[in-house]
Amino acid sequence: MQQARKWLRDAASVVVLTGAGISAESGVPTFRGPGGLWRNYRPEDLATPEAFARDPELVWQWYDWRRALIRRAQPNEGHRALAELERRKEKFLLVTQNVDGLHERAGSRRVVKLHGDIWRVRCTACGAADRDERAPLPQLPPRCRCGGLLRPDVVWFGEPLPDSAWRQAEAAARSAELMLVVGTSALVYPAAELAPLARGAGARLIEVNLEETPLSALSDCSLRGKAAELLPRLLE
Ligand code: APR
Repeated sequence: MQQARKWLRDAASVVVLTGAGISAESGVPTFRGPGGLWRNYRPEDLATPEAFARDPELVWQWYDWRRALIRRAQPNEGHRALAELERRKEKFLLVTQNVDGLHERAGSRRVVKLHGDIWRVRCTACGAADRDERAPLPQLPPRCRCGGLLRPDVVWFGEPLPDSAWRQAEAAARSAELMLVVGTSALVYPAAELAPLARGAGARLIEVNLEETPLSALSDCSLRGKAAELLPRLLE
């Protein structure tokens, strides 16, 4: 912890990658952790274009349930620590795989959302996209003014990431002096490429996770524990 604290303090440019684990202590379940996510469905079964085409109502039941849960959740000390870290660093980018918006609610500004935003919807017919923060939604699946079916404006398995988001994340990973990876199982690509990319470009790598991940062996320092406890201590 001492060494990690020093490296973080001395780094002129920092890129952070977060996953579902940073929101776990806000009561938002992770996808692959013991908490499981919803009934006995796996995200790979629901967060796909095929699942949505087959049963849009079921997929929306899952998202409506997650939106209501996230609406009640509050950012935790881990989110707030990253907002504080941003204030301390001239060159900083927070890249998140999370769609819950808790980083912004904690005060983070320089945020890139790789997998979209659960509070936005997009029409599958006319393409119109908009914020829609109603929880619960009045009808499932929700409809666009044009009559088309609305979908969550998030990235599903097999879909491309938003181009600008990926480009910003990749550029930051290539140029940062230090990368901090928090609460991700590092199993889903291309997000999982960012840490090896940063390391290959000479960045120091610090990981914060409850358990070992494929990145742990790659990290200069892998801290075992809860993000809400370890991140504030990293900034002491
Ligand atoms: N503090 C730190 N780490 C934690 C905590 C915690 N309190 N609780 C859980 N973790 C760790 C788990 O050990 C696990 O490594 O967070 C990680 C959560 O992994 P996943 O559930 O796989 O979440 P994530 O890595 O963000 O998933 C990536 O998969 O389903 C898709 O698009 C979805 O963005 C998501 C992507």
